[in-house]
Amino acid sequence: MAKGNVAFTKDNEYYTPKSVVDYFGKFDYDPATTKEKAEEFGIENYDTIETDGLNQDWTKYKKIWINPPFTIKHKFLEKAYETYRIAKNDIYILFPIEFLTTKRMTNASQNMGGKLFIPNGRINFESGLGKKGKSPAFGSVVLKIQDYWEVEFINIEDLKAEKPNKQQNIFDLIGD
Ligand SMILES: C[S@@+](CC[C@H](N)C(=O)[O-])C[C@H]1O[C@@H](n2cnc3c(N)ncnc32)[C@H](O)[C@@H]1O
Repeated sequence: MAKGNVAFTKDNEYYTPKSVVDYFGKFDYDPATTKEKAEEFGIENYDTIETDGLNQDWTKYKKIWINPPFTIKHKFLEKAYETYRIAKNDIYILFPIEFLTTKRMTNASQNMGGKLFIPNGRINFESGLGKKGKSPAFGSVVLKIQDYWEVEFINIEDLKAEKPNKQQNIFDLIGD
């Protein structure tokens, strides 16, 4: 059980804010979701716990979003790398930064790489459909699978629906 409102280790039902998914673009498949979240994100093809995304063919999709169930994230990561090896499709997977330091991570990504998007703050997941969670006890990263390793630090404000007024910032920069 982690600190904060989201019980990551016991509960697979926590959801990504739409603004985070939107930051990475438009997706055509999510292998681990609910009907409600797929509709909210505008993702046409999806699987749920009932249809089991791990038993589906992901190679036919162009751009895949995954926030895997916490308890079996390694299985989703393995399948993501297997799929990428075959189809070279765009696969984005979100997980706790701590997961990078595990053997399961290095085993899944063997001889492959990824672009790591690292925000300078915590993503506040929704602790149930429509419910806002508090800041979780650890940070998250989004990995885009690719052939080599790369890192991009991103501003947490850019992942939020309400962003600071960019016009105002430009005036601050150029002065009166
Ligand atoms: C962490 S939530 C993320 C949901 C959504 N993709 C998002 O980004 O907000 C993971 C979801 O995967 C579902 N799930 C669990 N096992 C699954 C499986 N084998 N296949 C597909 N979905 C599964 C859970 O019920 C849960 O709704």
